[in-house]
Amino acid sequence: MSPTILVTGGAGFIGSHTCVALAAAGYAPLVLDNFCNSDVRVFERLARIIGSAPRFVEGDVRDRALLDRLFAEQPIAGVIHFAGLKSVGESVSDPLAYYDNNVHGSLVLAAAMEAASVHTLIFSSSATVYGATDRLPIGEGEALQPTNPYGHSKQMVEQALADLQRSDPRWRITLLRYFNPVGAHESGLIGEHPHGKPNNLMPYVSQVAVGLRDKLAVHGGDYPTPDGTGVRDYVHVMDLAEGHVAALRHAERQAGLATLNLGTGRGTSVLEVVKAFERASGRSIAYEIGPRRTGDVPSNWADPALAQATLGWRAQRGIDQMCADSWRWQQANPRGYES
Ligand code: NAD
Ligand code: UFG
Repeated sequence: MSPTILVTGGAGFIGSHTCVALAAAGYAPLVLDNFCNSDVRVFERLARIIGSAPRFVEGDVRDRALLDRLFAEQPIAGVIHFAGLKSVGESVSDPLAYYDNNVHGSLVLAAAMEAASVHTLIFSSSATVYGATDRLPIGEGEALQPTNPYGHSKQMVEQALADLQRSDPRWRITLLRYFNPVGAHESGLIGEHPHGKPNNLMPYVSQVAVGLRDKLAVHGGDYPTPDGTGVRDYVHVMDLAEGHVAALRHAERQAGLATLNLGTGRGTSVLEVVKAFERASGRSIAYEIGPRRTGDVPSNWADPALAQATLGWRAQRGIDQMCADSWRWQQANPRGYES
């Protein structure tokens, strides 16, 4: 019998790829998603990759009665909690939506798990909890100083879950701080399709390559970096997905709290991403260097050593593969799952 893993937000970008990795590792993902930022057609695509569609329930992670029913009816061995809102800008204009969805949602989930005696939880945190820091690479011991409500919401959940684990040693909690997730499954069947104009670099670049947008605005060319553009730690979404499987295996071996960076440990500049995407797509990417974006840091990349030591996980895929896989998805699905 494959252990059932409840995957909240499992229809979304990282969640859908994690369903593939879970199935490959012998787990049975059970998705709970309200589809506020995803498309139910992802399950047809997952069926083509996995062989059968993961089971899914349409609903909200803040719905305690629904969670109680799920835990009562299904033999859930553990939970991976992706469900949440993730736009930094939106969190500044509508902070209550972020505290409600991300913080309240996580508390409702943890309470339902406690009531059902399910103690294995993997939480999607973000490198955004570190805020601006000059010390690179960023280790997990770095001070947390998020600069926006989205980041605060992640920090609050981390704190609540750490306190919960301290209160009851049966808990097996992993807080995963993702750096910049990009790429797509190598089949090109699933990937990221933001609604409207993308905020993030990789989806913007791929929309320029496919002809949906004219040119990339590079946010700043005067940073103290080798080519003046911002440097980030891009990590392939399938590496991240496999990191979640490694975290589950670790939790099976050991109770406690683990807080781990998931990144490659390598920084790539905006212009290096543009060049890599040009190589992958064979298209030229028009860009214009403009002013810095408020709130951006010059550089950030992970120290991934603790994840490697704890989970035996390290990112395998480089920037060329990230771009090649993003391009395959973008080209085959220029309008996402509507294509
Ligand atoms: P996503 O928006 O593609 O996926 C989130 C999923 O959760 C969506 O399918 C959405 O419909 C669902 N959802 C949202 N609120 C819900 C609710 N209340 N109940 C049920 N379902 C709900 O985002 P993603 O990129 O896959 O991110 C997944 C998680 O990882 C998020 O918690 C995000 O904050 C975190 N994260 C993402 C990034 C990134 O750059 N993508 C970086 C760091 C951390
Ligand atoms: N960039 C551009 N043009 C664009 C978009 C981005 O030049 O159109 C640049 C940014 O200035 C930055 C780099 O590309 O230098 C990466 O930007 P992203 O928006 O893709 O990623 P960020 O590192 O700014 O943000 C990501 C997540 C946030 C999270 C943050 C910290 O999107 O949710 O990492 O972990 F908070």
